[in-house]
Amino acid sequence: MKISVIGAGYVGLVTGASLAKIGHHVTCLDVNEEKIEVLNKGRSPIYEPDLEALIQQNMKARTLSFTTDFEIACQQAEIIIIAVGTPSNQDGSADLTAIKDVSEKIGAHIHHPGTIILTKSTVPVGTNQKVKSWLHTYSFSADHFMIASNPEFLREGSAIHDTFNGDRIVIGSENEEAARKLEEMFAPFGVPILHTSIESAEMIKYSSNAFLATKISFINEIANLCEKLGANVEDVARGMGMDQRIGSAFLQAGIGYGGSCFPKDTNALVQIAGEMEHEFELLESVIKVNAKQQVKLVQMAKDHVKDLKGKRAGILGLSFKPNTDDIREAASIEMIKLLVEEGVQMTVYDPVAQDNAKSLLGDTVTFADNCFDAIEDQDMLFIVTEWEEFKVLRLKTISKLMDLPLVFDGRNCFALEEAIDANIDYYSIGRPAVTQFSNSKKNV
Ligand code: UDX
Repeated sequence: MKISVIGAGYVGLVTGASLAKIGHHVTCLDVNEEKIEVLNKGRSPIYEPDLEALIQQNMKARTLSFTTDFEIACQQAEIIIIAVGTPSNQDGSADLTAIKDVSEKIGAHIHHPGTIILTKSTVPVGTNQKVKSWLHTYSFSADHFMIASNPEFLREGSAIHDTFNGDRIVIGSENEEAARKLEEMFAPFGVPILHTSIESAEMIKYSSNAFLATKISFINEIANLCEKLGANVEDVARGMGMDQRIGSAFLQAGIGYGGSCFPKDTNALVQIAGEMEHEFELLESVIKVNAKQQVKLVQMAKDHVKDLKGKRAGILGLSFKPNTDDIREAASIEMIKLLVEEGVQMTVYDPVAQDNAKSLLGDTVTFADNCFDAIEDQDMLFIVTEWEEFKVLRLKTISKLMDLPLVFDGRNCFALEEAIDANIDYYSIGRPAVTQFSNSKKNV
């Protein structure tokens, strides 16, 4: 099939490259000329494992091309996928400016009767109906298009894998012909397909993300209690997860969720509920718990060290999770802001997210060239992202690099036995603290 994808961000690029891989002819459009120039050279503008290789492979096979021109993108397309961003407005609602803009442009350029306009961007319930009216703004004919919704569930860092191994593909449509054609388009992925109404499809995306965020905030609250009660959250999560009704996924306690989806979508759902005069109290609490959790390590450090002013700290990890350079809503940013206010001098290191962080953090911190430079001679070390590169470090090595080794691990990267063995002070999430040098507050 001939498919165009509007918006060459995470979702658009991964979708475009994956659809090309299963045999479709795909054109990806973005208004950002620089981005399209980079893509036309066969390079990926974002860090996502396997994406660049897939782009190159499909460009070579002539099944994937890039453009900034709506006329080129729309002239032959049977299916046009909208994958532009829906960032948060100040009040938490979704900003639909880009969706409106591209819908109007698509409407003005469609040539084929029966073209399907498929929205992949996460949009509030009812938006696809607005898309329909925006498509008509500059279009000549009403029967030029059919609208449908296809929420995206891929995770950054494993987006290609997720596309080919998803749990489900949701197709929301109001027309059997569109539903059948979209099923045909997705069939080669071999992923179970669920057909729903457009409104239900839109709601499935928000509900799924809100539920996963709830699981995370829940286990983090259990972790906070475990610390007080002397229990170990990892054992608790294991015991809970063995109950198939609960499941073991997304029960990893840590310093909260970040990224481009959970924070934005949970806020948007609270906002959507509010518009319907429904107070979504559960989700409001999930968001509140997460905000506290993201800066938990700072409180732990303040409890342990009398005065943080003038102390030196190493920060390992800036991205909101491993295998991505994305720092949107990352715990690292909030934490670092607070530590700067406390007068802490920081040396930070992340394998791929440093360039993105530089524009946000400027010269408030020192960027290290490798993880050892961020550890050596620091008064304390914060582990913020569980990159494999950090997990393979041994605590004994860390201990040797620091004078009085004091580690705050926000992602439970190491076993408690290893911390005892390495003779360090080691604080993690929801597990008993390992305190070798002191049992009470001290001034390092
Ligand atoms: C998420 C959804 O998983 C995906 O389906 C949706 O389409 C987009 O949002 P993503 O944001 O890429 O994907 O990352 P994900 O792997 O889900 O992690 C989100 C955040 O939750 C990360 O900050 C991660 O560290 C945190 N997390 C995840 C936990 O703290 N504990 C867990 O058990 C799982």
